Amino acid sequence: MYIPYFRIRADPELIGELSHDMQTYRTKTSLILYFLKGAKRYFALSLLFAALVSLLDMINPKIISFTVDSVIGSADPKLPAFGMRLVEKAGGIEVLRQHLLSLALMVALVGALAALARFLFRGCNARGAETFVERMRCELFRHIMRLPYVWHSENSTGDIIQRCTSDVQTIKRFISEQLVQLVRTVILILLALGFMAGIHWKVMLGSAVFIPVIVAYSLIFHTKIGPAFEKVDVAEGALSAIAQENLTGVRVVRAFGREIYERERFEKQNEYYTGFWIYLMRLLAMYWSTADILTGFQVLSVVVLGSVACIHGTLTAGGFIAMISYNMMLIWPVRQLGRVISELSKAGISIERLRYIMNSEPEMDKADALEPPMDRDIVFDHVSYTYENAPGEALHDISFTIPAGSTIGILGGTGSGKSTLMYLLERLYILPEECGRITIGGVDIADIRLEHLRKNVGMVLQEPFLFSRTLSENIGIAVDRPKKKDIRRAAKAASIDDAINSFTAGYDTFVGERGVTLSGGQKQRTAIAQMLIRRPPVMVFDDSLSAVDAETDSHIRRSVKKMTGSSTVILIAHRITTLMNADKIIVLDKGRIREQGTHEELLSQGGLYRRIFELQSAGADALNES
Ligand SMILES: Nc1ncnc2c1ncn2[C@@H]1O[C@H](COP(=O)(O)OP(=O)(O)OP(=O)(O)O)[C@@H](O)[C@H]1O
Ligand SMILES: [Mg+2]
Repeated sequence: MYIPYFRIRADPELIGELSHDMQTYRTKTSLILYFLKGAKRYFALSLLFAALVSLLDMINPKIISFTVDSVIGSADPKLPAFGMRLVEKAGGIEVLRQHLLSLALMVALVGALAALARFLFRGCNARGAETFVERMRCELFRHIMRLPYVWHSENSTGDIIQRCTSDVQTIKRFISEQLVQLVRTVILILLALGFMAGIHWKVMLGSAVFIPVIVAYSLIFHTKIGPAFEKVDVAEGALSAIAQENLTGVRVVRAFGREIYERERFEKQNEYYTGFWIYLMRLLAMYWSTADILTGFQVLSVVVLGSVACIHGTLTAGGFIAMISYNMMLIWPVRQLGRVISELSKAGISIERLRYIMNSEPEMDKADALEPPMDRDIVFDHVSYTYENAPGEALHDISFTIPAGSTIGILGGTGSGKSTLMYLLERLYILPEECGRITIGGVDIADIRLEHLRKNVGMVLQEPFLFSRTLSENIGIAVDRPKKKDIRRAAKAASIDDAINSFTAGYDTFVGERGVTLSGGQKQRTAIAQMLIRRPPVMVFDDSLSAVDAETDSHIRRSVKKMTGSSTVILIAHRITTLMNADKIIVLDKGRIREQGTHEELLSQGGLYRRIFELQSAGADALNES
């Protein structure tokens, strides 16, 4: 169904306005105002219509009291000048007496106008809220995408997702519901009390004195019960975490026969969660009944004081009806006010959580960043690196040169710093100035435009990640409109073509949750194909052949060699056979270079490389014999 008014879509101009510069939001308000850009006018309009609704709601009790007192009865009409003019225009009270229906129509008309204002209020509010929330999501996503890899490795994905979903919803509710309701209620209270005071101020006081009592009671209750609601949220989170963990880790659960243990863990948490809710509901029931009693006293006070005033002749029957109507209008909003005020503070925490994201510094290029040719020598010049929160150096004084167009192998045990070396080359981690430098063609990589660097230095990650898309989309992910034949060529070179063809949907096979699950080796080969299709001047294969058998390994190496042409290739591996044909091999050990040279040179040196070679050859022989 297409309802233009409720189109939930931010203005295109608003999306165009989204900023890409690093800004710092010093206060929560400054961040909210930034997010509110484009939505403010809708909220302003919605408040205007809300005020109009309240004003229109005030009119009908007036018409009814005038009808009862002066049209049906014979009291002097107590109407404002505008009302009196309307009566005269209609031909005076006598005419109205003969056409009572016209007064009923008037009541209906005012009611219809109030309904229209309500509709416009809701429409503007929804438009404002959705524009606001869309901008928040957009800005957060854009900013998160620009945050450095280090930031992502320091912050858990679950936490970031929660900030972008439930915190965003909390802030949306705060702006579009709670704040608006607060303003609406204040306007309503002022108007209703004002109109009541105009009729009989003493009776008005009989109603007004209860307002602070009811608000205070509800405020205290909701402030006290707030933490309990947070606890129940945590309990719910724990329950879904158990469910999620068991769904994603289903293989581990089955493999270790943990079903009964996990089921019992889930049931225990479920029981706790249910018990908590029952306790909360009991508290809420107590609150509602007590609040009902307080409200009852307020109504009683107006009825008693109004009746006494009627007996003393200071209040007419129509005035009495109007007083009761105005008082009834106040009951529900006043009861809600305490809850709204108590929840205002919750939004503060959520805004602070988004401010943390928005104030995190994104990856930025220097103003005069360069785009030099990248098919040049790569030099690691006295590079040392220590991770934050790590006990010691991951790399120590590493110096070596990778001549342009050559193939270099990096061999080293687990944790020897191979990946770290490549992360630094990609600038996924920033090398501090005093810790050496990495240059390409003599240009420090810190001075190269990031996009240029990463486009030209391709890396097959040690733990490849495939998107939930088709295999051909995954292979061509880094290329603009990839051709089918290029995708096939890259897949063939990476020895994944046969496996892909064995799937019923071939290259259109979906990977991930909705499709097939690839084996570790198949994933690695898909990632290699991703790289081969774009063939950047520098290619890094970080342990990319670890999960394939030796035969496939050598086949891939041969075809990669054919395809890479003049590119510089960096091969990282644990297995010597993977990199023994490289022009130069660097042997890393505990973050230091132990040896470097060609395969033959290293063998003749009789050091660590030779020992590893002998161990691996012995292992391979034993395997062959068996
Ligand atoms: N994000 C990180 N924070 C702290 N320490 C880290 C981080 N990443 C790696 N390290 C540490 O740095 C050292 C080098 O790690 P690196 O991943 O470079 O080793 P590697 O040679 O690639 O090992 P593998 O062959 O197992 O992939 C290790 O001791 C590791 O624990
Ligand atoms: Mg590694």
